Amino acid sequence: MNWKRVCDTESILENDMQEFEVDGITVLIARNAEGFWAYPPNCPHMEAQLAFGTCDGKLITCLQHLWQWDMRTGAAVGLAEEPLKQYRTKIEDSGVFVNLQEELKYAIQDN
Ligand code: FES
Repeated sequence: MNWKRVCDTESILENDMQEFEVDGITVLIARNAEGFWAYPPNCPHMEAQLAFGTCDGKLITCLQHLWQWDMRTGAAVGLAEEPLKQYRTKIEDSGVFVNLQEELKYAIQDN
């Protein structure tokens, strides 16, 4: 069973993001009008904590050196030189579930 419940859907406001721990692993969950998105917690540039960055509903920005990524795909935007890894998410029983076994790259999810 790879799906882990990370938080309630009500835990995160739209256009915001927050870290959660599940099975000892830290996961960053972001929300926009389309749904919920999950990523590892640290920037692929120099490991800054992405939760201290911004999420505007389209882009995630690391405030250390302003690398940015498309929320839906993790694709690098602007200055970013590497994509942001993602985990698959699903919503069930008002909860956000993440599949930590499967990292995605450039995949648009249905959630
Ligand atoms: S550590 Fe995130 S952009 Fe440099």
